[in-house]
Amino acid sequence: MVIAHNILSVAALAATFIKCASAEQEKYLSYNGLAMTPPMGWNNWATFFCNVSADLLVGTAEKLVELGFKDVGYNYVVLDDCWSNGRDSNGALIPDAEKFPKGMKDVSDQIHAKGLLFGMYSSAGRWTCAGYEGSLGHEEIDAQSLAEWEVDYFKYDNCFNDGQYGTPLISYNRYQKMSEALLNTGRDIVYSMCNWGEDSPWDWAPTIANSWRISGDMYDSFDRPDEHCPCDGDEYICKLGGYHCSMNNILNKAAKYASKTRRGAWNDLDMLEVGNGGSTDDEYKTHFSMWAALKSPLMMATDIRKIDPDAYTIYTNPAVLAISQDPRGSSVGRVWRRKIDGDVNDYGVQGELSLWSGQLWGDDQVVALVNTGSQAVEMTATLAEIFYHMGPGGKAKEIKEEWDVYDLWGNRMDSSTAQDIVAGKIKVDNNLIYNASEQSYAQGLLNGDPRLLGKKVTTIKPSGSLSVKVNSHGVGFFRLRRPEPVKVKEFL
Ligand code: GAL
Repeated sequence: MVIAHNILSVAALAATFIKCASAEQEKYLSYNGLAMTPPMGWNNWATFFCNVSADLLVGTAEKLVELGFKDVGYNYVVLDDCWSNGRDSNGALIPDAEKFPKGMKDVSDQIHAKGLLFGMYSSAGRWTCAGYEGSLGHEEIDAQSLAEWEVDYFKYDNCFNDGQYGTPLISYNRYQKMSEALLNTGRDIVYSMCNWGEDSPWDWAPTIANSWRISGDMYDSFDRPDEHCPCDGDEYICKLGGYHCSMNNILNKAAKYASKTRRGAWNDLDMLEVGNGGSTDDEYKTHFSMWAALKSPLMMATDIRKIDPDAYTIYTNPAVLAISQDPRGSSVGRVWRRKIDGDVNDYGVQGELSLWSGQLWGDDQVVALVNTGSQAVEMTATLAEIFYHMGPGGKAKEIKEEWDVYDLWGNRMDSSTAQDIVAGKIKVDNNLIYNASEQSYAQGLLNGDPRLLGKKVTTIKPSGSLSVKVNSHGVGFFRLRRPEPVKVKEFL
């Protein structure tokens, strides 16, 4: 009896230990337990710059709900630079009374009342990039204001940093101060660092932040180089972030750091330009697919109140969003990259073909074939290449298996339905969009919801390969799944 009792106690202890261990593991994976999948939302900067107001934020929040973006998972409404007007006698930031006549708490309340979350911005410097008060040396009081306004997401920039950069430790100390101040408020605030890849944040930010920018600001161009974005994407460490970085430039930078991303700690490839008019539909599909595959936060940076219907069908594609929000949280890696002979565009950029792949929850695999060249190309990837990360040299056991291939763009919503939705002629419902508020992406995957898989297009035989025609500046984007998929268990 006593022995039995002791055995039970040991079992109970072991169970507690296992529970604790997984809680510990969680803590390790996300320093504050937040952002276990890449954050999704909207940010005003790339379209509105300093032209911000309560009306813009609340009006956008309304549209996010009305058009179904909230249900698809775009939760954060993020106010960027230019919102303050100095500090009060206690040293607290004062919201600009013209732009925000009822104050920040009122904006926050209105956003929360719609079931959305509120994000704000400052700089780890004396001033923000647009010259407003920065938070360097004011970390505690500014974090306190954020908590009082019930802010849920905080973007922290890098301008006017008083020379406090140059080594990872110097940058770490500056950003760590705000991390601690945010934790001390006791409020759940996703911490989004924006130091443009300076001092290699991917090496140290995971223990203090939920995401970090890896580059200068993106602009709405597929591959046009610009002198304001000084690194061409082939250097490992880009000392100056800059701005006017093309999608292709950022993609090449991301390839180097892809493996640094993990649950709760994400490489931020910058906002989504989809819908802003500077790129083609294929280019936007490539942009969106790769940001999802590389697990970047997905922040729409277009005017939601006048959203382009084709952009709507990209932003709401459930099969691609299920890659972004996959519970495993691992990024794709670039397996190979080949320059295309003689294919140099007007900007002097040589076209390339590349293969990216990565593991998903339930041991599915995501595959992206990218063509940055000027012509459509038939691209082929062997299973040995697709599963390269599982065992180089053709050793991966997955190569000997059969795989069903699902095209993640195969079931894209048609333009005319999207036109009717954005024009307010038809109301969105769960048949038109994937409602992640009712069934999370993880739950949908667990239930085998077909909308999250895409359209089955072919099967790859053991030791076979996948061949697909990829448009110029386009992507072939697929989920590979065994005919008898591994049964995924409830995560954690
Ligand atoms: C940049 C930042 C942008 C935007 C801007 C505001 O440094 O990378 O995303 O926040 O500042 O001035």
